[in-house]
Amino acid sequence: MLFQGKIGVHAMPERSFASKKLALAMTLSLSALLAACGGGSGGSASGGTTPVADSGLSPQAALGAKIFKDVSLSASGKQSCASCHNPDNAHAQSNDLAVQLGGKNLDVPGFRAAPSLRYLNLTPSFFFAADGTPTGGLDRDGRAQTFAAQAARPLLAPHEMANVGKADVLASLKRTAYAEEFKQVFGATVLDDADTAFDRVTFALQQYQREDSEFHPYDSKYDQFLAGKLRLNDAELRGLALFNNPSKGNCAACHTSSKAADGSSPLFTDFTYDNIGVPRNTEIAATADAAYYDLGLCGPDRIDLAARADLCGAFKVPTLRNVATRKVFFHNGRFKNLRDALGFYVRRDTNPEEWYPVAADGTVIKFNDLPAQYQGNVNVSEVPYNRARGMAPALTPDEIEDVIKFLGTLTDGYK
Ligand code: HEC
Ligand code: HEC
Repeated sequence: MLFQGKIGVHAMPERSFASKKLALAMTLSLSALLAACGGGSGGSASGGTTPVADSGLSPQAALGAKIFKDVSLSASGKQSCASCHNPDNAHAQSNDLAVQLGGKNLDVPGFRAAPSLRYLNLTPSFFFAADGTPTGGLDRDGRAQTFAAQAARPLLAPHEMANVGKADVLASLKRTAYAEEFKQVFGATVLDDADTAFDRVTFALQQYQREDSEFHPYDSKYDQFLAGKLRLNDAELRGLALFNNPSKGNCAACHTSSKAADGSSPLFTDFTYDNIGVPRNTEIAATADAAYYDLGLCGPDRIDLAARADLCGAFKVPTLRNVATRKVFFHNGRFKNLRDALGFYVRRDTNPEEWYPVAADGTVIKFNDLPAQYQGNVNVSEVPYNRARGMAPALTPDEIEDVIKFLGTLTDGYK
């Protein structure tokens, strides 16, 4: 959706045009951006990032790989990054809980579904495009600008790995089997100071996520199709056409599906944000408080845009690569299968009673995960959610099945 400055005007037909312009501009600025953050914090401590030949990873990234899977760096001693971002499940959560449990006793519930960490390496830092569209950034509200900055939170968050402070992380780090290697890579004195050590831990995690092709293999069936190596079957091709068709799924308006002008592969996100009015998920413990709302860009986790009422309820467009491997969908994990997630898209407005609570008098309480004053932010003008009761949904149930078949071609590791 396009955000027009503070006015919050709903998206308009020019969307795909604007998105394409944006994609182009981004392609141009992306390499500069990546080069600019290439050194990163802490990278110079060892005097360079000479790649290790056998793994193809720099020494920093190779350490990051160990840290990523190390449960000893959590207060429980049982949780690592990989617990919520399982490499065997496209680096996303592997269960169907709306939110994961963390903390010392692994009983503190989180607030959002754990996203896949695949294909994030080309995400630009958060910015407002010339037309006002919020774009880029890590986390579902774009508040983290680098993998290193992002990694600081799970290590310390009470509902995640729950270290009480950086000193806690350092104490655990000193006891790891790779403590010596850590000193060799980051300098003999790196474990003398908690701030420095913590900084290097997050830097190592960053380099791992950036460098290891496990996070961005581009080897799905669809990639091989784009490379001309195989054919999609008829249902998949029908699904692709519906996905791209501006008057049917219109999915590609936000979930980019074709190669960019520079030939780079589609990531199935244009890095923008939208408010699609996902129903409240009472499975999330925080929702027991009727005053609790997760408003994405405008808070509560992100604080710098709290005054931008027009952005309340907008969340990042996630990549749809590997989406068929997920067991929960959307920021609050409200839906547990693709059929419901897609059904919600196309029948949200034609059949709202399927998705939202119905009051005693029969009124459907639409957009019930947003305070009344922000319900007008929900995108109701763009296909497929530009409908009203009595109109035909943008996709029929059979067409939804075809789109699901197509989405299945986006799973990495196709043989
Ligand atoms: C208890 C579960 C849990 C653990 C442990 C965890 N994460 Fe996450 N991760 C999440 C959730 C939930 C989000 C979404 C947070 C948000 O949007 O505010 C997330 C988001 C992310 C993102 C941003 C993804 C995006 O789409 O922009 C990255 C990167 C990430 N985590 C890396 C890590 C790393 C590295 C570690 C280990 C230091 C880690 N995570 C540990 C649950 C977890
Ligand atoms: C106007 C932009 C836009 C359009 C058009 C759009 N999406 Fe999305 N999509 C989003 C945003 C934003 C989210 C995340 C919303 C959230 O978490 O609250 C999302 C999330 C999803 C998810 C959940 C993914 C996950 O990992 O949880 C699926 C599946 C999905 N979209 C599929 C589709 C399909 C299929 C279509 C076409 C029928 C489509 N989208 C059209 C913006 C869009």
